[in-house]
Formats: sequence, structure tokens, C-alpha cells
Amino acid sequence: MQVKQIGLLTAGGDGPGMNAAIRSVVRCALAQGFKVKGVLRGYDGLIKGEVVNLDHRSVANIINRGGTILKTARSKEIRTPAGLKKAVATIRQHELDALIAIGGDGTYRAANELFTRFHIPIVGLPGTIDNDLVGTDQTVSSNTAINTAIESIDKIRDTAHSMERIFVIEVMGNKSGFIAMQVALASGAEDVIIPEQKFNYAKLYQDMVEGNKKGKLSWMVIAAEGAAKAQDVAKRITQATGLETRYVVLGHVQRGGTPVASDRILATRLGAEAVQLIRKGKFGKAVGVLQNKIHIIDLAKARRRENLNYKENYKLLKILT
Ligand code: F6P
Repeated sequence: MQVKQIGLLTAGGDGPGMNAAIRSVVRCALAQGFKVKGVLRGYDGLIKGEVVNLDHRSVANIINRGGTILKTARSKEIRTPAGLKKAVATIRQHELDALIAIGGDGTYRAANELFTRFHIPIVGLPGTIDNDLVGTDQTVSSNTAINTAIESIDKIRDTAHSMERIFVIEVMGNKSGFIAMQVALASGAEDVIIPEQKFNYAKLYQDMVEGNKKGKLSWMVIAAEGAAKAQDVAKRITQATGLETRYVVLGHVQRGGTPVASDRILATRLGAEAVQLIRKGKFGKAVGVLQNKIHIIDLAKARRRENLNYKENYKLLKILT
């Protein structure tokens, strides 16, 4: 079947850089003679038939904007057989000959269902702040989220240092400790709690008490949301050491803002590659980069990356602090 029209959607958590990917897909597709339609609100919009035309000008002035102009949602319905069937009906009704789905693990799972069960020609593009997908070293949005978190943590450092306080700072990342580890290394935090490795709380308390005796009064501990709640950690530190501890949950601030250059470039490259795959008739795939080279993987395999080994990074962090 010859593809004439491509449908494009963003699903799951939004992230800065998604718009740059949308722009790249739309303009690369148009340049190759495809028509492009945008599906609003991710798979929920696909189920409900929320489809709009996209042209060259629809994606003007968005390369620098956070979020997604197509809107996004976490669809529960797409996980059901009825939801999938409704999505397929929209695809047929609007003559979407192929689809590009931008998102993370959940987005890929639904895309793979559409591909394997209904033979929908579909390609995935990794867009999540969590950087937790197999088949790519980097997902679009992750670098911006890390930079945003660091900016806030640098500010916390000012007050932590001035008031000689302990701070526990919770960052996002779902079940992955990637953001937390990157942020901890880049912000000079004293410690980091991540899901991928067991954390020695007793040692932390001991270090804090000993440090306190020697005059080291300000500490920053980064907690990945998938490993510990900052509020609980702060409470436990105070109980164990008697030292006053504050906590901050950075939350959704990490998902917004202007995308950094590396996210814009990655989004642009991957958008172009996704269109290439469609042109070549290669479906059921996800685009990514490994060692900065484009890498293509089966959607079925591009699942959540688990149990990464952060021992070396952690060792380095402890040497430095
Ligand atoms: O997947 C991106 C992410 O920001 C995770 O880091 C976080 O756990 C989750 O989404 C939060 O989701 P929501 O915005 O639906 O609360």
C-alpha cells in the first residue's frame, strides 16, 4: 500500500522537544509529498476522532516551545480491545495510511498493539523526560528536564549553604533513576537515592552526624521519585540525626520550559528519520540514537529500560563529595 497521508500524535507525559519533533515530522513529510494530519490528545483523540490538518505554517514558531501543540493524554481506553478498535476506525475514516506516535513506554505499547493486532503502519519516536527506553541512548525532552532541575537545585544550594541546612530534593523519572543520577552529578549533591540500587540510609545518617561535628552543615540529597519520597527521607533524617531537614519536590516544573539545543537537534533528527521509515515502508519500528548514530529497533523491543548499572557514577559522586 502506498502511503499518501501520515497521522501524527503525542501521547503520555508531555516534554520539551516534542514540538520540535512535530515540526520536523510535518516539514520532512510535506517535503516528500505526504499529507500530514495531527491527532489531538494522544490515543484518546484517536479514539474520539479528533483529527486536524497540519501544514507548513501549523508548525511555525514551535521549535522553541515546551509542551506539545497536539496536546497529550494518558489514555486508559487504548489499553482495552474496544479502545483499540475505535482507534482503528478513526485511522480508516480519516485515511491515515501511516502513524507516527511520539511518547514513552506506554505510547510504544499501544503503538505495538495497533501494529501487531491490526496491521496499522506505525513508527514510534521516543519523547519522554525519563530517558528510560530500550533502543536509544537519549529520549527527546530528557536533557531539558535535567537542565531545568539543575537550575532549581542551584538555587536551593544558595539557601542550603547560607542557612547551613540539609535538603532532600525529589526529582521525576518514573521508575528510572536516570534523571536523579545526572542531576546529582551535575549539581554536586552529596548523595542520591535511585531505584536501581539499594541505599544505605544508616551510612547517610552517620556521615551527616560526623560531618556536622566537623562543621559541614549543608547537604543536598537527590531522591528519584521511583525510589523514595523526599518528605519521608527528610523526616527520617531528622529522626535519626536530630538535624533539621527541609525537602523540595521539583515535580512538573521539570516537564516544561524551552527545550535545550540537544533536545531540539535530537527531535529534528528523529522526526526526519521517522518519515524516512514510512517512506521506505518499514513499520512497527521505533527510531532512536545509539552513540549519536540513528538506530532503529522493533517497537516490540523498545520497552522500558530497566536495571541500569549506576555503580560507577555513584562511586564518582561519592569521591567528589
Ligand atoms: O513519564 C514522565 C513523567 O513525568 C514521570 O517522570 C512521572 O512519574 C510522570 O510522568 C508523572 O505523570 P503525570 O503528569 O501524569 O502525573
